[in-house]
Amino acid sequence: MNQLQKEIIKLKEDKNAIILAHNYQKKEIQEIADFSGDSLELCIEASKIHKPIVVFCGVDFMAETANILNPDKKILIPDKEAECPMAHMLTLKELKKAKREHPDAAVVLYVNTLAEAKAEADILCTSANAVQVVESLKEDKILFGPDKNLAWHVSQHTDKEIIPVPEDGHCYVHKMFTTEQVKKLKKEHPNAEVLIHPECDPEVQKLADRILSTGGMLRRVGESPNQDFIIGTEVDMTTRIKMEFPDKNPIPLFKEAICEPMKLHTLPKVKKSLLNEEYAVKVPDNIAKRARKAVERMLELSA
Ligand code: 13P
Ligand code: SF4
Repeated sequence: MNQLQKEIIKLKEDKNAIILAHNYQKKEIQEIADFSGDSLELCIEASKIHKPIVVFCGVDFMAETANILNPDKKILIPDKEAECPMAHMLTLKELKKAKREHPDAAVVLYVNTLAEAKAEADILCTSANAVQVVESLKEDKILFGPDKNLAWHVSQHTDKEIIPVPEDGHCYVHKMFTTEQVKKLKKEHPNAEVLIHPECDPEVQKLADRILSTGGMLRRVGESPNQDFIIGTEVDMTTRIKMEFPDKNPIPLFKEAICEPMKLHTLPKVKKSLLNEEYAVKVPDNIAKRARKAVERMLELSA
């Protein structure tokens, strides 16, 4: 650990704070985090927090979800510009319009949505549990948003009608992956297992050995007898895998697949966040109350 990391750990103890980090964070941030994980694991962890201050090294919708589950705690984000563009693709207006057009459909939203949209959902899901969530519902028609590719993935595992809302919600990072990249790497590493995130385009998903959340990828690398893995998600997932399993060989599908908003968090900003208790993420009570029901309904399935 470097000096700055040591100072942050000390400050964290003095402030009785906890640091949560998404799997896409840089190595130096992972090293000072109390817990790293995928969106579902972070939601579960957020629901169990016993400390008054949480520094969330992730994007806006993740910190908002932590606040929805912990309205009395201080949820801090080191850089308030860390916004997931996909979460901003589903507007409240568009969601309400879709609900009016399909009054018999259940509304399942990816956690990658803003709090105001979450408040309109019946239940939330993440990439780790989307199929399980949809299958748990009694309705045969599902409004699903905002990720069209995750909607496609779910539609491959259910007989229910999945209606994407909006029509073309997507992640700009996972859009960078192509079938040519997968084929080229498979040729270079013929024994590699291909692990692909469900935010990738369907053509890319079709070439996967397994379609997994980032947490699922980490578990699979640990369990698999294989040595080489082609990792079809944000590039720093390979950093996270390497930290956990130094003997394995995770190969990024595309080295330039970088989630810029995730990388806005740096050690100096984490220190400043703890020192000044900035920047607080606070979802208005009336929205948080309604959104909490949808988050908790999802968490009940993971219990
Ligand atoms: P995971 O829940 O699989 O970590 O995915 C979150 C995300 O935003 C992927 O881009
Ligand atoms: Fe959002 Fe894509 Fe970044 Fe995930 S990788 S946080 S979906 S922009």
